[in-house]
Amino acid sequence: MGKKSLFLLISCVLLAYFVYVPLPDNIDQPWKVMMTWAFMKVQMHLSGLVETLGYGPLLNLLEVPPASDANILVTDTLFNNVPVRVFEPKQKLSAMRRAVFYIHGGGWAMGDAAWKPYDELGRQMADKLNAVVISTNYRLSPQYHFPTQFEDVYDALRWFLRKKTLAEYSVDPTRICIAGDSAGGNLAAAVTQKLLDDPEVKVKIKIQSLIYPALQALDFDLPSYRENAHYPLLRKSDMVGFWSMYFSTDKALKEAMLANQHTPVESSHLFKFVNWSSLLPERFKKGHLYTNPIHGHSDLAKKYPGFLDVRSSPLLADDSKLRGLPLTHILTCQYDVLRDDGLMYVSRLRAAGVQVVNEHVEDGVHGVLSLYNSLMNFKVGHRVLNKYLKWLEENL
Ligand SMILES: *[C@@H]1O[C@H](CO)[C@@H](O)[C@H](O)[C@H]1NC(C)=O
Repeated sequence: MGKKSLFLLISCVLLAYFVYVPLPDNIDQPWKVMMTWAFMKVQMHLSGLVETLGYGPLLNLLEVPPASDANILVTDTLFNNVPVRVFEPKQKLSAMRRAVFYIHGGGWAMGDAAWKPYDELGRQMADKLNAVVISTNYRLSPQYHFPTQFEDVYDALRWFLRKKTLAEYSVDPTRICIAGDSAGGNLAAAVTQKLLDDPEVKVKIKIQSLIYPALQALDFDLPSYRENAHYPLLRKSDMVGFWSMYFSTDKALKEAMLANQHTPVESSHLFKFVNWSSLLPERFKKGHLYTNPIHGHSDLAKKYPGFLDVRSSPLLADDSKLRGLPLTHILTCQYDVLRDDGLMYVSRLRAAGVQVVNEHVEDGVHGVLSLYNSLMNFKVGHRVLNKYLKWLEENL
């Protein structure tokens, strides 16, 4: 074999290794999913660097400057010392505007309001809804752990909800939505709960919109974790890795979480809040056997109490708390480890009397909404985005 063909062979093997991944049968445009996955996998293979540098320096290439266009004024500014990107329609004002306070995803470890997919999403929302969109940043793991991410977002949100700030942006205080995807959906749910018992905030949020949110760190053996453990763009090991890194870089925590043995017996009363056997609709339980959780040592929970905190796991809120929540939109994807977190929150909120709209994407993988324009042009992403914007247009 000549040098050239050997090189070709090695390249093909490497390419296949990075690109090929088994996918569910009814996924549209599977090669695009695989290519996106390959890109992410390359990032993850640099994860040795992540521990010291974080993901930031590796993914800066996805960032775009705050460039205004014909319709939207885009500015980067600070809300209570937290960096945010603001999108304001240039269209002349006839009445006060509605607003979306948006929180990006990325496992509490990656992502930025300046990332192209989030910049695009902010523009689209501002343009199609004639709304002010605040896209907030927050400090990331592994440099910063819980509750820093939560507190940064909450600080920015409180700043935005001040009478003075709302007036500055001509926002109608009765038409505000808090939204986020993935880890951002987690933060959106958490801050929306927190607002309910903050006496200093007078504004009532109209809608919370949670896009494939992560909502609990107690049980990593849900049917959706079992069924989608090896599918892109978020494998079980990736998600559990993000969860553990949200609290600590201690490998013992990740190991215990992967074995689903991290919750101590003293906290067993919390399992009723994440009991998929009672909270999932029948069709999602099919073929799965519920086993009561295995309890772990209490040292981990003592060292990292964050994973039992309602500010990290909004599903742990009790019914009396949930009752006060606004109209809720939850987007779930069939092929997503986080699917059942979202579905269980739908059940719990409905049981507490909250009005909930569940948009379930039968052919969706995790990240479907922000992926539509990130690297590839996903048909399913466009479809989901258009439906989402239409829903907001009608309800916000
Ligand atoms: C979960 O729910 C099932 C019934 O739906 C019940 O048998 C089981 O004891 C519950 N487990 C916990 C830990 O709440």
